[in-house]
Amino acid sequence: MKTTAITPSNIAFIKYWGKKDEALRLPENGSISMNLSNLLTTTTVEFSSQYKEDSVIINGVQEPNEGSRAIKHLDRIRKLANISDKAKVVTENNFPTGTGLSSSASGFAALTVAGAKAAGLNLSEKDLSILARQGSGSACRSIPDGFVEWIDGDTNETSYAISVYPENYWDIVDVVAVVSKDKKHVGSTQGHKLATTSPFFEKRLELINDKIKLVKKYLKERDFEKFGELIEEEALELHAIYLTSKPSLIYLLPGTLLVMHMVKKWREDGLPVYFTLNTGQDMHLICERKNASKVSALAEKINEVQKTIINFPSEGARIVSKSLF
Ligand code: DP6
Repeated sequence: MKTTAITPSNIAFIKYWGKKDEALRLPENGSISMNLSNLLTTTTVEFSSQYKEDSVIINGVQEPNEGSRAIKHLDRIRKLANISDKAKVVTENNFPTGTGLSSSASGFAALTVAGAKAAGLNLSEKDLSILARQGSGSACRSIPDGFVEWIDGDTNETSYAISVYPENYWDIVDVVAVVSKDKKHVGSTQGHKLATTSPFFEKRLELINDKIKLVKKYLKERDFEKFGELIEEEALELHAIYLTSKPSLIYLLPGTLLVMHMVKKWREDGLPVYFTLNTGQDMHLICERKNASKVSALAEKINEVQKTIINFPSEGARIVSKSLF
């Protein structure tokens, strides 16, 4: 059966960095995120005995099969469904890939949801999240709705994401500022392996559970200022780990730094807005909905910002009736 899923990317407020089990993608720590309404992956999957080999087409380009993470993921799905048919996968992202906007999160969530259904599996949200996690850790958070917690867990079955609040819980917005469409030089999967080489990583792990508790408290209280301060601190901590890894990981481009300085200046001028960012140069500007157009207009005035994308909190993965082939 040909099946199509649409899934959002997500922005982590408390980040997943470092793995305690590489193969299963068990994270060193739990994380908290929000699904993003306008960073979407659409994926159609079909398994058929007619196909001689797997074919994966991403944004119109055929992926090489050798070493393909997508095909490894199809193998996981085939194993669960006990089938051996090859698959055709067509996938489209409506946003830049490999620049820090977490296309692997939405991508592997979409492949999981469309692939599982196409293979005849009827999995629960929890089982879809567990399966998506094995493709890309952050993908497990794109399955449930709204504001999401990934419980780190010590085993395959205990590491998955749940919705903490639905998408309509809080009117906050993520104004994504695209700084450059160039792909990052080291991807997250490689980067995770370097986490423990930073002298600050151990300290991070020591404090992370308290940080998760605190961010959940501010979410619960909808305390935007305290929430914003904490998530900005967290993003800078992540980049402190990157910068002090061996070898160092430097994702910050001049445009990224400029946006950071401007956000601080806008705050001094009375506009409540905070930044976060992942493995890459693109910036996520978090503000309340009432300030979204203002933040977007200000960001677009910065020469180094190519464009902005306004994202509201969003539902998670869903099956749709349209098809990409
Ligand atoms: C900095 O989920 O992309 O965006 O599991 O190796 O695919 P893999 O890594 P990935 O890492 C995301 C790291 C991050 C933080 C986050 O999204 O929590």
